[in-house]
This record gives sequence, structure tokens and C-alpha cells, in this order.
Amino acid sequence: MSFHPIEQARARLNRSELAVPGSQPQMFQKAAESDVDVIFLDLEDAVAPDEKAQARKNIIKALNEMDWGKKTLSVRINGLDTHYMYRDVVDVVEQAGERLDLIMIPKVGTAADVYAVDMMVTQIEDAKGYKKRIGFEHIIETALGMQNVAAIAGASKRNESLHFGVADYAASTRARTTVIGGVNEHYSVLTDPLADGSRQIHWGDMWHHALATMVVAARANGLRPIDGPFGNFQDPDGYKAAAYRAAVLGCEGKWAIHPSQIALANEVMSPSAAEIERAQKILKAMAEAEAAGKGAVSLDGRLIDYASIRQAEVLVEKARQIAA
Ligand code: GLV
Ligand code: MG
Repeated sequence: MSFHPIEQARARLNRSELAVPGSQPQMFQKAAESDVDVIFLDLEDAVAPDEKAQARKNIIKALNEMDWGKKTLSVRINGLDTHYMYRDVVDVVEQAGERLDLIMIPKVGTAADVYAVDMMVTQIEDAKGYKKRIGFEHIIETALGMQNVAAIAGASKRNESLHFGVADYAASTRARTTVIGGVNEHYSVLTDPLADGSRQIHWGDMWHHALATMVVAARANGLRPIDGPFGNFQDPDGYKAAAYRAAVLGCEGKWAIHPSQIALANEVMSPSAAEIERAQKILKAMAEAEAAGKGAVSLDGRLIDYASIRQAEVLVEKARQIAA
């Protein structure tokens, strides 16, 4: 391990994160009663320009008056390139900052963007005398944001998570996409002729590099990496495949842009009973090996060492958070 310790952001369950337009207050109650871990009330792209002011009012009222239970609540403000953003921050944090857990910053491009929002939020929190500090979630969804992802990840003590905003990322990089967060048949390789002379097409994951880069920046700064939207909510298999490949790379959660995607995200992002049992067996075997003065041991024919313990500990801790 490097001598540089990685301070971990505040731990929160973030398997699923539901997008709810601030202009649709009739959807708020259902979101509050759902099984989702985090809700973000949107002021940005799901809200038309002439509805922004009313959406802000809806969100402030709902944060103050509704019973959200133990849900983690976030508000997605408008981008720093719009004039809506300053009023989003001032109005929402001044008038409803005490119930707000997180602010989601879309299209973040540089560490200075984070600094600017941090400065505003800090002034408002201090002026209002809030005890709790609001955390930040950043959507990495532009070429500039991806280029500066490491600096963004380390830019504020408020930072909690990085989110891969695949739709805007595709637009920003001018990628060729068909569905939001889906695959593209042209991102593939054609095999050489096989024994029978036939050739096969293997589809690849065109988002792999971007997602993996974001995961590294997040983990190197103690943040949660979260995969963004999957547009076709009538394709649960496609959603699950996208969620699994994000989970395998290290993501802790995925967005739901429709309530039907919540259960899928929770399922994929929770360790299975078999995984938890195996992790507990690993910890037990290592504790016994340590007591006997050994640094490595085998379990069911596989080597277990200290790296296995760290993986098992992460898994058991996740299971504990879910059960809490
Ligand atoms: C999310 O905001 C996205 O653009 O994918
Ligand atoms: Mg976006």
C-alpha cells in the first residue's frame, strides 16, 4: 500500500439511484415509498426551460414537507454553463438544505467547477448555521470531464460519488449510439475463419474504457463509482447485462430512469447469499491461518491471501449495510 492513505467518502448504500423530474411532483410519493437507495430530484435535463422555476419550488416544498423516510436525497442542479444553476443552489440549499443529503452536478468539466459549487454551498450552509454538510455527486458525461476526471474526483471533501452519464457522454464525444447505455453492433470484431471456415462477430462494450477510467478515479479518491442510465426500460435483460458489467468493473450502483429498474439494480448490486457465505468462509479460514502463524491458506482448492481477505471484508461490509 502507498504511504498515501485514501480517505473514504461517507458510506451510503447506493445500489440504485432513481431519477425523478422536479416538474412531476405527482411522482414524488411513489419514489419515496419505493425500494430505491438514492433519489435524485431533477432540475436539469428532464425539466423544460419554462418549467425550471416551478420545478425548483416543487422540490423545495417536497423536501420540507414530505416524509421521505430514510431515503438519501439528492437534487440535480443545472450545469454551470446555464444561468439556472446559481438559483438552483441558492434557493434549494437556503430553503431546504437541512433535508438534502447530496447535490448532483451535471456535466462537470474541471476541478474549478467543483470549487465554485463548494464555495456557494459552504457560504449558504454557514449563513444558515446548518450542522450537516451536503455531499456532491458528479456526472462524468463530457469529454472534458473525462479528461479531468482524476482532478474532479479529488477536488472537494464533499465529493461522494462519480456517475457515468452515458447519454451526454455519447453526445460530447460524438459516439455512435442507438439506445442510451446500450451496445452497438458496429463496435465488434470479426474473427478469422474458424475450423469450419465460418467467421463470427463478437460484440464489444463501447463504454468499457470510459467506465473503467471513471471507476479508477473514483476508487483512488475514496468515492463510489455509479453507472448511469439505460434508456430502454422495456428491456430488463439489457439493463441487467449493463448493470452486471458495471458491477464487475467495480461500480456500486446504477441509475433507474423508470421505477421498474430499481429492483433490477438492487438485485445486481447486492452480493448474493452464496457470495456472502463464501466471503465469511474466507474470513474464517484466514483468521485460523493467522492464529497458526500462516500468511496464506487454501480454501476449496484455491489460494487465499491478504488480498482475498480485503475483498471478502468489502463484501461482508456491503451485506451488513444492506441488512441495516
Ligand atoms: C445522464 O445525465 C446522461 O447524460 O447519461
Ligand atoms: Mg446528462
